[in-house]
Amino acid sequence: MWRPPRRLPRPPHRGTATTTAGPGRLLLSTPIFYANGPPHIGHLYSALLADALLRHRRLRAAGPARLCTGMDEHGLKIQQAAVAAGTSPAELCERVSGLFHRALAQAGVSFTHFTRTSEPGHQRAVRHFWAALRDRGALYKGCYEGWYCTPEESFLPESQLRERTDTQGRPCKVSVETGHEVHWTKEENYMFRLSAFRDPLQNWLRDNPRAISPSPFYQCVLRWLDDDLPDLSVSRERSRLQWGIPVPSDSTQTIYVWVDALVNYLSVVGYPESHGAWWPSVHHVVGKDILKFHALYWPALLLAAGLAPPERILVHSHWTVHGQKMSKSLGNVVDPATCMGQYGVDGFRYFLLRQGVPERDCDYYDEKVVKLLNSELADALGGLLNRSTAPSINPSNTYPCFSEPCFPRVLDSKEAKGTGKASAEDYELVAAVASLPAQVSGYFENFQIYKALERIAQCVKQTNSFFQRHKPWKLDRRDTAEQLWLDTILHVTLECLRVYGTLLQPVVPDMADKLLSRLAVGPGERGLSGLTFLARYDGKPCPFEGRQLGPDTGVLFQRLEKSEAVKSRKQEARVPDKQLL
Ligand code: ME8
Ligand code: MG
Repeated sequence: MWRPPRRLPRPPHRGTATTTAGPGRLLLSTPIFYANGPPHIGHLYSALLADALLRHRRLRAAGPARLCTGMDEHGLKIQQAAVAAGTSPAELCERVSGLFHRALAQAGVSFTHFTRTSEPGHQRAVRHFWAALRDRGALYKGCYEGWYCTPEESFLPESQLRERTDTQGRPCKVSVETGHEVHWTKEENYMFRLSAFRDPLQNWLRDNPRAISPSPFYQCVLRWLDDDLPDLSVSRERSRLQWGIPVPSDSTQTIYVWVDALVNYLSVVGYPESHGAWWPSVHHVVGKDILKFHALYWPALLLAAGLAPPERILVHSHWTVHGQKMSKSLGNVVDPATCMGQYGVDGFRYFLLRQGVPERDCDYYDEKVVKLLNSELADALGGLLNRSTAPSINPSNTYPCFSEPCFPRVLDSKEAKGTGKASAEDYELVAAVASLPAQVSGYFENFQIYKALERIAQCVKQTNSFFQRHKPWKLDRRDTAEQLWLDTILHVTLECLRVYGTLLQPVVPDMADKLLSRLAVGPGERGLSGLTFLARYDGKPCPFEGRQLGPDTGVLFQRLEKSEAVKSRKQEARVPDKQLL
């Protein structure tokens, strides 16, 4: 009987083999998207999560990183979509990949690689990967029969099916998870010995409790491993599926689209020649719908091919729209370009990343976007910048000076009565903002970007209260004591804003740039390593004090008119079949 490798391929000594990534490197990935329809906000959400992680990592100057995304262009699903659209698969893929490329670029997703699985370089990598599986004895030819779900490009076991009647009233079987009809398929296929990988997969997960986050998904994969783990059919008869990569040395078979697609993560880093510089230092961002492919099949395939499993799989749940699953047939697919037009690129990025909670499905509706963006970006953050830099309050338009006697250093906020003008709440604010960068980094590390944003929003609120509490607009600059306190209030406020601007860069890059430019923070002063907050409070010099502020280039975020945004969405919805295909 064939046995899988007993141990995981270990990262060997540096430079000796293909499983040690270069120091500090990280490959981040999004799923590669099916080229059968235009992008929607769910696709964009995956890409934004990965983009924010990449940008945050760059702020930390944590080492070279790449972000790969792209298109899954092969398989029956695309072949059928091309027939339905009256075009060739190649033509359909060309068109749809252009739509995704543009949407992701418009949203500021800073991908470094955009793979299309129809590219020759990728196909060569897939053939090599296949040969590695074959040569290591992980494949065999068998007659396979079962229920195939084309939209999921997957055979499904009986336990994942239920009975229904089709549109003509005939009984049929559908996928429990997606509701799509399945079809009985019987063919001679190549099979992958997935069943032999239960122990190696269990060991991998046991040794790497952070391999799959958030933890409910980790637990879910462990449970799957207690169930049946049948071998996996990894090819289709070429007579049925021509749009795909032929099996090397057996042109009667086409490689299963999921094997083809998963290998994009290797082909993008130069497999089979040079992937060692990056592999296995890779973090895959995926939706929960494709967890099984990434957390069971992919690691098993990698192990079988002599490679290590990915370092982390970061899983998120789904966006629904007004409580319903987004689907073309329901006609409720939310187009990201329309949203970015309505709310601005940064506004929409902020909304998705602030409201999207990876552990659970999130519901989308326009009123929610308007409310959140108006309250947190326009009023709280934009308002604070506006008020604290207004010419009436800061006529010299400079970064104001901090006065130690007004805000003396104390070890404990309870001591804060005595000499200065600052209150206990002010000391709490200073402590909160001082600890914010580390908290935010922790949240990013844990794939909880929404929590990072929530924490920043709380601090912004606290800073607004600080400003409101001391009413600096009532202080008189002609009185020396009042002027010192006024400047100190402004200094603390701008220091807070500088921290928020720095930390928000991964999520709202253009808005953060605008904010930091207004505060005269130079391009070399925007990283996390040099981010000191309120140095003067700690008795150290502050490089910003006295600096001329940047020009006022208008409001940070324009308030949204509730009715306008919603109206234009309703008009959109009335346009029949907005499909771009
Ligand atoms: O599955 N909410 O491609 P796909 C949030 N080609 N995210 C969503 C979503 C929603 N409603 N709908 C989709 C495929 N997504 C394969 C992947 S990878 C080697 C091959 C996101 O076009 C989410 O990340 O169906 C999901 O996993 C992915 O898009 C599926 O995109
Ligand atoms: Mg899908």
